[in-house]
Amino acid sequence: MTVRERNNAEQLAARDCDNCTETRIITDELKHYQEEHERLCVLLNITREISTELQLDRLLFVIMDEVKNALHADRCSVFLLDEEKNELWSKVAHGESEIRFASHLGIAGHVATTGEILNIPDAYADSRFNPEIDRQTGYKTQNMLTFPMRNRLNEIIGAFQVLNKKEGSFTRDDEELLNAISTIAATQIENAQLYEQLQNTLNSFIETLASTIDARDPLTAGHSKRIALYSNEVAKIIHLNEPRKKVLRFAALLHDYGKVSLSDAILKNHKKLTEKQYSQMRSHPAITRAILEKIQLSKELKDLPFIAGTHHEKVDGTGYPEGLKLEQIPAEGRLLAVVDAFDAMTSNRYYTGRMSFEKVIRILEQDSGTHFDPAFVKAFKKLRLDKLVEILENESAEWLDKTDLSKLSQYTIDDLIFELRFDTTRNNGFKLVDTFKKYYQQEYLKQKERG
Ligand SMILES: [Fe+2]
Ligand SMILES: [Fe+2]
Repeated sequence: MTVRERNNAEQLAARDCDNCTETRIITDELKHYQEEHERLCVLLNITREISTELQLDRLLFVIMDEVKNALHADRCSVFLLDEEKNELWSKVAHGESEIRFASHLGIAGHVATTGEILNIPDAYADSRFNPEIDRQTGYKTQNMLTFPMRNRLNEIIGAFQVLNKKEGSFTRDDEELLNAISTIAATQIENAQLYEQLQNTLNSFIETLASTIDARDPLTAGHSKRIALYSNEVAKIIHLNEPRKKVLRFAALLHDYGKVSLSDAILKNHKKLTEKQYSQMRSHPAITRAILEKIQLSKELKDLPFIAGTHHEKVDGTGYPEGLKLEQIPAEGRLLAVVDAFDAMTSNRYYTGRMSFEKVIRILEQDSGTHFDPAFVKAFKKLRLDKLVEILENESAEWLDKTDLSKLSQYTIDDLIFELRFDTTRNNGFKLVDTFKKYYQQEYLKQKERG
């Protein structure tokens, strides 16, 4: 090779080398942008997934699932600080039930107390690791990334713990991603906690209102609470969605609230009311509705006054206060009519006891299509007998025999009616009618008294 040829070759090699470096730089930049893009997609996805969820349990589950996938880990737990009990708790930790421990214990405790981020490649080699949870759950923790979760005021409200990276250990990039997720998640968790508190306050407020009505007449004690329990069971049978179930529960608890306007002379009069008293008594659903309409209710509860005010309407239009017909009455109002009448007929009168169960069912069936919507009578008869006994006797719940309840749970009201009418013994020796009547006629309480 001549000198000139060698120079040319060297120049070409140098140019190739420059190209290589440039290509490498471009490839690295592309990779960086691609990773950044993926990171933003993950964050966007998580924000979208959690931003509409206000139910705390479901929210925690969604967050844990998203974080687990985003960090290519096997498991993720969100530990929340319970300041009153000084504990950390995690409700759903991918397969486990609630975990609770003192807020200073273990890695999560350390992070929640100090605010440090802990990226531990070998958990069992770290003295702060509390192997007790693994022992309880049978899980084997290898590596873990634990991150404090802070609210808008920068106070620690809990910790994220991501376990067992699928390949290798958790990286610096994982820490950054978890940091970003943690900020988004903490805000939504606080919103959900606040929403839960508000719901609890509203719940206890409505339950208190209901009990003030029930307390006025010992004969109907517990009526509103039982109506709410029956309604909930029928709602499950007809697969009513959760938002409607909630409105139905409140409507059930408050359906007779309008009775606050009635005097004791009317409310506690279980004999014959005068014409005037009867008309006052019949005004209570309209008063319930009017009172509830005065409350500024959220959008999800807007139908509550109307539903509560229709529990004495009849599908043939002969009910009150408005004489509405079948489809003019909201479905929840038609459901309430069935359980309200059932509870009135099965309430435990002093001296006389309960009306016979056969008669109660006969009335429900006879009035099906005139007073009651047949669809709801049919749904009600699908109620399981353990639930029926638990609601009928909910004030003596501690005396109910668990074995009896477990056997009764295999039968519905329909099965009981069949048994009562045809007197068959098709239940492998189980005395269905006798067991039910032991509770319906409250024989079990007399047996207890006898000792
Ligand atoms: Fe009523
Ligand atoms: Fe009622």
